[in-house]
Amino acid sequence: MTKLEHLLKADRKYLWHPYTSAISPLPTYLVESAKGVRITLSDGQELIDGMASWWCVIHGYNHPELNAAAHSQIEKMSHVMFGGLTHEPAIELAKELNAITPSNLQHIFLADSGSIAVEVGMKMAIQYWQAQGSPNKRKMLSLKGGYHGDTFAAMSVCDPTTGMHQIFSDNVVKQFFTDRPSCRFDQDFDASSLKNLESSFEKHHQELAAITLEPIVQGAGGMWFYHPSYLRRVRELCNEYNVLMIADEIATGFGRTGKLLACHWANIEPDILCLGKALTGGYLSLAATLTTRDIAYGISENGGVFMHGPTFMGNPLACSVALASLRLLSRSNWQQSIGNIEAIMRASLVDSQNLKCVRDMRVLGGIGVIEMEDDIDVAESQRFFIEKGVWVRPFGRLLYIMPPYVIGDEDLSKLCEALVDFAKKTEMKSK
Ligand SMILES: Cc1ncc(COP(=O)(O)O)c(C=O)c1O
Repeated sequence: MTKLEHLLKADRKYLWHPYTSAISPLPTYLVESAKGVRITLSDGQELIDGMASWWCVIHGYNHPELNAAAHSQIEKMSHVMFGGLTHEPAIELAKELNAITPSNLQHIFLADSGSIAVEVGMKMAIQYWQAQGSPNKRKMLSLKGGYHGDTFAAMSVCDPTTGMHQIFSDNVVKQFFTDRPSCRFDQDFDASSLKNLESSFEKHHQELAAITLEPIVQGAGGMWFYHPSYLRRVRELCNEYNVLMIADEIATGFGRTGKLLACHWANIEPDILCLGKALTGGYLSLAATLTTRDIAYGISENGGVFMHGPTFMGNPLACSVALASLRLLSRSNWQQSIGNIEAIMRASLVDSQNLKCVRDMRVLGGIGVIEMEDDIDVAESQRFFIEKGVWVRPFGRLLYIMPPYVIGDEDLSKLCEALVDFAKKTEMKSK
């Protein structure tokens, strides 16, 4: 047996990969290294990365500046507890986050993953209303088609059909849901898409602590782009009905949609903002939940404290890399890169639009989507893409790419071509 075969056998024997069976898992491919937008497999094959490792590696892999930040911090300390101790990387990161996020968000809680940042946001909202003497306001309103993570509270606000609610029906807290915003980002706004939203606020506001949503782009729940006017109306309704707004920008934050935050498309400020994924340029797991002075002080009045404190809170290594990543982003011309990625994807993916097996094609910022009529066979599609020299991992009916911002035109064209070829192959098979 070769070393590669040994390793893959051990991988199947001991490891459980995400969303797959332990008995007959989806195939895995052994990675040797990654640099820029290329992932090198152990057999030497190079793949152009279309996924940015679940959307977080915005500057590319193995970036010298991020490497330097990690090296220099590791020489000082990789970790110290955040209870009673603090450190420069966390303080400098907080200052930088404060400078680039809406001015109403003054308090930053550092968490260790996106799901936890969402849980923290929900806890902040619930604790705030308790402190205000409104303990009945403890439910969330959420959008169908949303995704906020895999932990229990995060799951409770994920789409009730695709979000595993059936499997865990007795364990997941029942929340309120409103229809997925039907008004597309790229069409005139249709005010009828607000009906269900408005009636949900009217009916449930006395029980609602907050609405939890992904602004503009619903990611893992369907890669759906909705109209900024919808988001603007959410903000108005939150003000009218005294409901907090939690914006989950874990996938959309740091430029992915063409704005630094997706909330900027609607010129709104949420009460609670969750950031993650690209925060560290995809190097280490770190997330942040930002909130207003009003909420932070509201919770803290009369001796109140916020009840959360993970072991790896504010991890110095992750904070140092995050700080380097934010500085790199602000120095780069990311708007131009995203505009260029968007233009190339629009021009290239359009070739899929007339195929019968394709339901829809949509592009926003650095996100390109071909929505098929039927579910895609993941194992088969991965083999296809690897043969083409690209790394793309579809889910459900969705073929999509979210490449690192540093991708070159030629590499991006190859990715798009591979996506369209896969759709064409599916069309041929169905004939
Ligand atoms: C919008 C959104 N929120 C939360 C999460 C959960 O983040 P994590 O996987 O870091 O827990 C994700 C992950 O895909 C996400 O896309």
